[in-house]
Amino acid sequence: MLIVRTTAELDQVEPARAGKRRGRRAVVMTMGALHEGHLALVRAAREAADQVVVTVFVNPLQFDDVADLERYPRDLDADAALLEPLGVDVLYAPSVADVYPGGRPIVTVSAGAINDVFEGEHRRGHFDGVLTVVLKLMHLTRPDVAYFGQKDAQQVIAIRTMCRDLNVPVGVAVVPTVRDGDGLALSSRNAHLSAGERADALVLSRALAEAQQVLDEGGPLSLALTVARAVVAQVPSVVPDYIGAMDPVSAAPVGGDYRGDVVIAVAARVGGTRLIDNVVTRVGPREGVA
Ligand code: PAF
Repeated sequence: MLIVRTTAELDQVEPARAGKRRGRRAVVMTMGALHEGHLALVRAAREAADQVVVTVFVNPLQFDDVADLERYPRDLDADAALLEPLGVDVLYAPSVADVYPGGRPIVTVSAGAINDVFEGEHRRGHFDGVLTVVLKLMHLTRPDVAYFGQKDAQQVIAIRTMCRDLNVPVGVAVVPTVRDGDGLALSSRNAHLSAGERADALVLSRALAEAQQVLDEGGPLSLALTVARAVVAQVPSVVPDYIGAMDPVSAAPVGGDYRGDVVIAVAARVGGTRLIDNVVTRVGPREGVA
């Protein structure tokens, strides 16, 4: 595995720019602190592509909270040790100065209305920062396909929308959320949870499972959301930012008697740590089912 620290070096390992033929290339973009969720993305990319590039870059543009940026876990040696056995071709881990040589870019990508709901509403500027770095990393690594995790459901919607609206010629592949045996969705932020907080955080996946059960039994979305909110309310140390339902294509909030595919999403603070989770499901019968 080649470890590349600068854009200039990345240019040198880019055979397509030298006019050479290359196979299908996949990129997995990460902010490091890799866990099994990231490794599932890398394995999926490795299976589907000839070349796999993994990026590790903690993108300051997408943090609305300086303390969160500063305490974000960073350990490139540990990340490289996890990636090496998976057959990654290039690990690209640039510095902030390398990605943003002039400081904050003047021109950025806007997530538009996606900024006004759910994560966008609670983390001002977050999706603009995500889309700006994702587009830059797509230009720098030139993949055919980019892999993202379903855990960041609204991020996936924002990236798909950007690629569609700006004609970015990169496929977006989505890999299901990886969970610990007890249901907790894997996240780099789980490292900040105490044992007690981790136990409390399990209420999030439990609430989603109960909401899903309501829908599986033919109940309305409004009831599924009421049940999810009631389950989370049983653990007062878990303070939700939102528990809601979004259209899986536009991220627009849906509710009431909505029928169709839906993402039920939750974000909550557990102590000083903010966690998100979601389930992709459907309200009403699946196609072909009476
Ligand atoms: O999902 C993440 O880790 C980040 O938002 C991403 C896509 C690497 C952009 O910084």
